[in-house]
Amino acid sequence: MTAPIVETEALTKAFQGMVALDAFDFSVGQGEIVGLIGPNGSGKSTVVNLLTGVLAPTAGRIRVDGRDVTGAPAHEIARLGVARTFQMIRLFSSLTVEENVVLALQQQSGAGYVSSFLQSREARERRLAARAEARETLKLFEMDIHAEKLATDLSIGQQRMVELARGLATRPRLFILDEPAAGLSPVNVDRLITMIRRMRDEFGVTVLLVEHVMRVVQSVCDRVVVLDYGEKIADGAPNVVVEDPKVIEAYIGLGRAADA
Ligand SMILES: Nc1ncnc2c1ncn2[C@@H]1O[C@H](COP(=O)(O)OP(=O)(O)OP(=O)(O)O)[C@@H](O)[C@H]1O
Ligand SMILES: [Mg+2]
Repeated sequence: MTAPIVETEALTKAFQGMVALDAFDFSVGQGEIVGLIGPNGSGKSTVVNLLTGVLAPTAGRIRVDGRDVTGAPAHEIARLGVARTFQMIRLFSSLTVEENVVLALQQQSGAGYVSSFLQSREARERRLAARAEARETLKLFEMDIHAEKLATDLSIGQQRMVELARGLATRPRLFILDEPAAGLSPVNVDRLITMIRRMRDEFGVTVLLVEHVMRVVQSVCDRVVVLDYGEKIADGAPNVVVEDPKVIEAYIGLGRAADA
């Protein structure tokens, strides 16, 4: 594997004593597309929230590009080129599609609201550049035609595409997607598959994909990691992992039924 872009060591998160993630050792190499799967409540979103600094770990370490970022706040991790989408879509409903993307670019560059309203030539040029960048990225997702609409006036599938555009516009090095196929029609799932591949192949983005839709996982992932009750139970090639008896058991709950 190439040098890891992100790496965890015994990463652990407990919520009021309930261990949601237990001593998780994991890494994603530069340019890899890694899937993170597991039954509901197995700890996938917790991993995403820890890696992006939304949650602080109870124990263990996180390194981005070899740099220890354990406990670093979300904005600091974002500055290192780590972007994400949310399981529950989080677009600003009172902003247009384009404004949502522009805002992400401003947050990424640290420009923020205040300086964006300054009338200096530099601020104006930056704002124009951000709008051009936003349009360009929306076009990739065939969302440029909806640029002036309010984000909430779009279908779920379109909103998911805007979330992807918003993340990609910031040119992340690592893009973490939390269930991007949720609520998508089969046609949109196909588009999603194409776009995840393009993000890696054309933009050099490394992808960590949390996903329940196995068609997506199997068609794009180089490697798949499986969680069950906060523990890693498999890590390998997609076709090998889906045949792993431990993984099958976790999904159909045979082990649990036998224990009961
Ligand atoms: N902020 C929180 N406070 C308390 N418990 C939490 C919190 N976030 C997650 N949990 C618990 O941690 C466990 C793992 O949750 P997590 O959201 O990571 O699962 P998941 O694998 O993403 O599930 P899903 O497939 O349903 O999205 C669950 O038992 C969940 O209830
Ligand atoms: Mg989740």
